[in-house]
Amino acid sequence: MGTRKYRRKYYDFFSHFYDAFIALHSRDQSGELRKFLVQQAKLKPGDIALDICTGTGSVLPNLHEHVGAEGLVVGLDFSHGMLRAARDRWGHKSPQICYIEADVAHLPFGDNFLEGVTCSHAFYELKGDTQERALREIGRILKKGKPFLMMEHDVPDNPVIKFLFYLRIYFMGSGKAMEILGREQVVFQKYFAQVQRICTPSGGSKIFICRK
Ligand SMILES: C[S@@+](CC[C@H](N)C(=O)[O-])C[C@H]1O[C@@H](n2cnc3c(N)ncnc32)[C@H](O)[C@@H]1O
Repeated sequence: MGTRKYRRKYYDFFSHFYDAFIALHSRDQSGELRKFLVQQAKLKPGDIALDICTGTGSVLPNLHEHVGAEGLVVGLDFSHGMLRAARDRWGHKSPQICYIEADVAHLPFGDNFLEGVTCSHAFYELKGDTQERALREIGRILKKGKPFLMMEHDVPDNPVIKFLFYLRIYFMGSGKAMEILGREQVVFQKYFAQVQRICTPSGGSKIFICRK
C-alpha cells in the first residue's frame, strides 16, 4: 500500500513534463502508433471503450473518433496529476471522454460491460501482482469476443537503446516486467481464449490482441 502511494506521487510529479519528455524522444510525433492501436479494436459507434494507465490520455481522442458522440470513452489512471493533464488536454474537445482515478487491479465496472480496452506503453510498469490482477479484471469487464489491446516497445536492436530499455523496465516494473518480457503470450493465454501478436507498421512496438 505504502509503495503504491509513492509510485502515484512519482507519476503526479512526472505529469508536469510527461508530454514534453515524450515529444523530445518519441519517433511517433504525429500519433500514428496510437491510431494504429485503436484501429485494431474495430470499435463501432455507440461502443464503450476504456484506456487503462491512460497517463495524459494520448489514446483517448482516437478511441473517441471510433465510438462517436453516442459512445463513451473512459481514461483510467491512479495518478491524479496525470488525469488532470489528460483533462486539460482533451476535456474541452470531447465531453464524451470520462476520467476515472482508480487502480488497474480493481476496475470499477460491471461484468461483460465494455467493447474494448487499450493499454499503451504502460503494462511493463505495473509492479508485483498488479499485472495479473489487472488481466483478471480486464477479462471480467470485457464482453465476450471483445478485445484487450496491449501495446509495448519491442526490445531494440541498437545496444545503447537496448540498455536504456532494460534500465527503464527494471526500475519501473522491477522483477515483474523482466519476468513477463518475451513471455507475454503465455501469461495472456491464462486469461484470454485468443491471443495474437502483431508488429506496428513503423516497427519498434508490438501489440497483443487478446479476446475472451
Ligand atoms: C508511461 S505512463 C502512460 C502511458 C500512456 N498510456 C501513453 O500512451 O502515453 C504509465 C501510466 O500508468 C499509470 N499507472 C501505473 N501503475 C498504475 C496502476 N496500478 N493503476 C493505474 N494506473 C497506473 C501511471 O500513473 C502513468 O500515468
